[in-house]
Amino acid sequence: MSRLIALIPAAGSGSRMGNQLPKQYLPLAGKPMIYHALATLCHAPRIDQVCVVLAPDDEVWVRYDWSPFSNKLKVLYRGGATRAQSVLYGLNALQSEGAIQDDDWVLVHDAARPCLSSAQLDRLIDALVQDEVGGLLAIPVADTLKRADEKQCVIGTAAREGLWQAQTPQMFRMGLLMAALNKADNTAITDDASAIEALGLSPRLVLADAYNFKVTYPQDLALAELILQQRGTT
Ligand code: CTP
Ligand code: MG
Repeated sequence: MSRLIALIPAAGSGSRMGNQLPKQYLPLAGKPMIYHALATLCHAPRIDQVCVVLAPDDEVWVRYDWSPFSNKLKVLYRGGATRAQSVLYGLNALQSEGAIQDDDWVLVHDAARPCLSSAQLDRLIDALVQDEVGGLLAIPVADTLKRADEKQCVIGTAAREGLWQAQTPQMFRMGLLMAALNKADNTAITDDASAIEALGLSPRLVLADAYNFKVTYPQDLALAELILQQRGTT
């Protein structure tokens, strides 16, 4: 039977956050940010293992106590220069250890999405576990979209019909995902689904909610904190 493995790329520096401490470790509701995604994934009964991919020179991870997750957590110091490389190198490491099979499902989830709920995670797995290709959580674009010139003036309005914002987790079979990432331009893509799309396949969009946004800029921290506090899981 195929297993479900979560993989959290956490080797970024958080340049848009502008803090010296990498974004995934910034304090959020009393914990380092990555703790929240880890908790949701590790507490999901259907997920067999949760792998975190850190930068090879990460010195921050060991400062915290991760023992609450020790039954499922695996730490790989294999991150690369881009998110796609971090995912691929993490999968390579798991494969060479024999820790993962081609037909296992991989759920790739950003460390920077701390507000993923257990309910959304369940919806994703339910929607995709029998799927041929796999897919991702996403929400339809609500705002009107403007295209700007270099002077930040509008040069056009893009039709938003049929446009969705991709979130994570993104869930694909390990063999397919590795083949896709090996073939893709890993310096250009910003999610896993685009590598799958480049193979000519159509990942399924699973309706999510705006709570699962990506913490990117400093002002996003306060919103994430509010969501987590209101949920009362911290
Ligand atoms: N990531 C990674 N390896 C990289 C770059 C990003 O594992 N070389 C991870 C981040 O740690 C994060 C996820 O990919 O969990 C999504 O990336 P993003 O939100 O863009 O984080 P950063 O790249 O760290 O931030 P920025 O783009 O602002 O520098
Ligand atoms: Mg980035």
